Amino acid sequence: MKEQAPREIDQDRVHELTQREEQRLEEHTPESARLYRAAKENLVAGVSSGYQAREPYPIYFTEGYGSKILTVDGQELSDFHNAYGCMVQGHAHPVIVATIRERCAKGTQFGLATPDAITVARRLADNFKLPKWRFVNSGSEATMDAIRIARAFTGRDTVMKIFGSYHGHHDYVMVSTPMNYGDIGPRDDYISAPFGGGIPQAVVDMTVPVPFNDAEAMERRLAKLAREDRTPACMIMEPAMMNIGVVLPEPGYLEAVREITKRLGIVLIFDEVKTGICTAPGGGVERFGVVPDMVCLAKALAAGLPSGAIGATDEIMALVEDWRVYQVGTYNGNPLSMAAARANLEEVMTPDAYAHLDYLNDRLVGECDAICAKYDFPGYTVGIRSKGCVDFATGRITDYESFQKYQNGDLSELAWLYNFNRGVLMAPGREEEWTLSIQHADEDVDRYVAAFEELVRDVTA
Ligand SMILES: Cc1ncc(COP(=O)(O)O)c(C=O)c1O
Repeated sequence: MKEQAPREIDQDRVHELTQREEQRLEEHTPESARLYRAAKENLVAGVSSGYQAREPYPIYFTEGYGSKILTVDGQELSDFHNAYGCMVQGHAHPVIVATIRERCAKGTQFGLATPDAITVARRLADNFKLPKWRFVNSGSEATMDAIRIARAFTGRDTVMKIFGSYHGHHDYVMVSTPMNYGDIGPRDDYISAPFGGGIPQAVVDMTVPVPFNDAEAMERRLAKLAREDRTPACMIMEPAMMNIGVVLPEPGYLEAVREITKRLGIVLIFDEVKTGICTAPGGGVERFGVVPDMVCLAKALAAGLPSGAIGATDEIMALVEDWRVYQVGTYNGNPLSMAAARANLEEVMTPDAYAHLDYLNDRLVGECDAICAKYDFPGYTVGIRSKGCVDFATGRITDYESFQKYQNGDLSELAWLYNFNRGVLMAPGREEEWTLSIQHADEDVDRYVAAFEELVRDVTA
């Protein structure tokens, strides 16, 4: 995208449209409002995770099939949320349904080893070019265990991360996330800021953020940490950022990070909870050709069943093999999740499925960019396989700072409402992106593009 003289967006108009669209949504979701009034008595804010909450009430959903999801009020939406990327297979994929049904009848949980875990580990080893794997139940568990293993491997405590990245809800990484912190300090010395209460200051101080796409700033921060005798155990990062929209790595950046971490004996962890499976069978490792020391997976791995995985080198996982690090969990390698993961990797996410995602994503990116150009609208589109977003931005976003500077958060909120009211479900929040599923069709893309054009036309009218 070329830097453009930003067209002025009339914020009053955005607020006026937001009010109109909110009212329209409320008129069509009375059953969600009714459920919420009952739910909040016993279910905190009416939801099971803060990320499901919404003002003035959450929308409740009942069913998903193929590319569609159904609300309790009977609206059928094209699902571009897809459970934050878990459902790249689409809902109730026949192969996954049959696999789960068959596995259910034979027992769902033993707390013991099953053959499917071996098959899944072998396939992940091939795809992500790391030989040794363990399974967990979520992305947070994967990043938490990976960091503990990296700390034991190096004998160091400090964790380095990217400012604005989200890696789950445990203390080690609930620091300097995508939230709005105001002043975050100079680029070479960003602050470590907690994401909400209850995180011990000692843990916050141990987690050091650096900018994405800036290996030189990382080097300078590492030099400072070395002088303080605080060289990190690990650098945890997404190979492409997926929690401030989608931000791709600049050419040479991941290679530079790989070289620096190798030179300083820092374990490089790719958090592929969002990029894994969704951008390629081997995620960012395959897409960008850089092999880290560890990989974390979750979301799309088991086609909608809770699961996660940690991959690493032989050397690193030797610590787990000989019990110097306890990597444990009652539900780890759960038979149902492992059966779904096996079917997902072997039978569902085929080369044809990825080709279909490429086709749909190319359409979305091309058509949304054409609309931005047609209306001289300050925005541009980023897409990678099943993932993508329209950045409502007056300049190119390459990291958290440019995201905060250029992105129009009010427009993102309005876009969510426009989409919902026109049959498209997006993940909420200005930092989220779309996930296409392999069951999406041209008709779903048509819906998205039509809603987007109406938004842009109305905002610029
Ligand atoms: C990049 C990344 N890592 C880790 C997580 C945490 O995963 P989970 O919510 O399954 O614990 C998320 C969740 O959104 C994520 O986006």
